[in-house]
Amino acid sequence: MAPLSTRFTELVGIEHPIVQDGMGPFRTSKLAAAVSEAGGLGTVSIPGMTIEYEEGKRVLREHIDETVALTDKPFAVNVPVGVDDEGKMLHISEALISAVIEARAESDKIRDQLRVLTTSAGYPGEFRDRIRESGLIHMCKVGSTRQAERAAAAGADVIIASGYEMGGHTHKNPVHTFVLAANVCEVVDIPVLVSGGVRDGRGLAAAMCFGAAGIAMGTRFIATEENTDWHPNYRQRIIDAREGDDGVVPGVYAPARVMVNRGTAELMEVIEKGSMTLDELTVHKDELLKRAQIDGDMEHGFVAAGQVASGIREIVRIAEFVPAMADEAARTLTGLASTATADSAIS
Ligand SMILES: Cc1cc2nc3c(=O)[nH]c(=O)nc-3n(C[C@H](O)[C@H](O)[C@H](O)COP(=O)(O)O)c2cc1C
Repeated sequence: MAPLSTRFTELVGIEHPIVQDGMGPFRTSKLAAAVSEAGGLGTVSIPGMTIEYEEGKRVLREHIDETVALTDKPFAVNVPVGVDDEGKMLHISEALISAVIEARAESDKIRDQLRVLTTSAGYPGEFRDRIRESGLIHMCKVGSTRQAERAAAAGADVIIASGYEMGGHTHKNPVHTFVLAANVCEVVDIPVLVSGGVRDGRGLAAAMCFGAAGIAMGTRFIATEENTDWHPNYRQRIIDAREGDDGVVPGVYAPARVMVNRGTAELMEVIEKGSMTLDELTVHKDELLKRAQIDGDMEHGFVAAGQVASGIREIVRIAEFVPAMADEAARTLTGLASTATADSAIS
């Protein structure tokens, strides 16, 4: 029996309240399938925000097809929803959300399994109705309590409260996980997942103490045996990371947390000199991300990762790790309850 069933696991129909969150522009189909197979919820990521629209839709569909070929369990897709200067949703975000909705409409197997769309980096505004009508569960990732309240009021089904220490694109205004988790759980009554800095069952237990219904992780899942699509140097860099190795630099659509290296220094020089147009710079940053993930260049590539990397010491097997993490959280919570009871009996 699953050790930790929550409102979230019941809503989505999974065993453990553990989500592998989106990690675009990287291929995460194998990761997503492995996490879902292990009883959590895996997420297929976008192929990039600078990709040509039709090509973006094609690649995303290929990743969805790969995931359903590897598992029969539920999974999610993540699409960041940037807005343009007039506040309209970016065309690439619209195209990728449409690709998700079309994939579900075209295949019963995809519709059964692709149950969740996680939007991040903004709220999908008028697209919200299309998401709901398609039957998708809508998870909305936020970095502040105000955003959480607005997303819940606009009809989101689940909130991911992601603190500033998270890997990849983070938030303009830093609110850290410990503060954000407590604040968000207090103000919304839909299920909340805590994200940013979680790596084991103790983190899941802590999230549940705040009132959350689960957690979402990115960095922890990079350093896994099943993550064979990424260059091995990337996984090793996570294992080697120490406190202070990370920093926040201007990312593709928001500030991004990466490992500080020669690539980040060179990028800051380019920005200071103004030697690239904004569009060129955006494409360049997307290329730097792929240089790390595909070519394994840890010196010049963008190695997106969270502060939690400093506590990750080994490459784990997802098939064992996910159930063990849920079990550790359940034991931690039970252990704390019995210690508290024993202490109050003594005093
Ligand atoms: C390599 C990498 C790429 C990421 N790309 C995305 C993305 O495409 N969309 C998104 O919403 N979040 C992205 N994130 C953030 C994760 O979804 C997640 O919120 C974050 O990793 C949680 O914090 P943690 O790294 O401490 O576990 C990325 C994170 C990493 C490490």
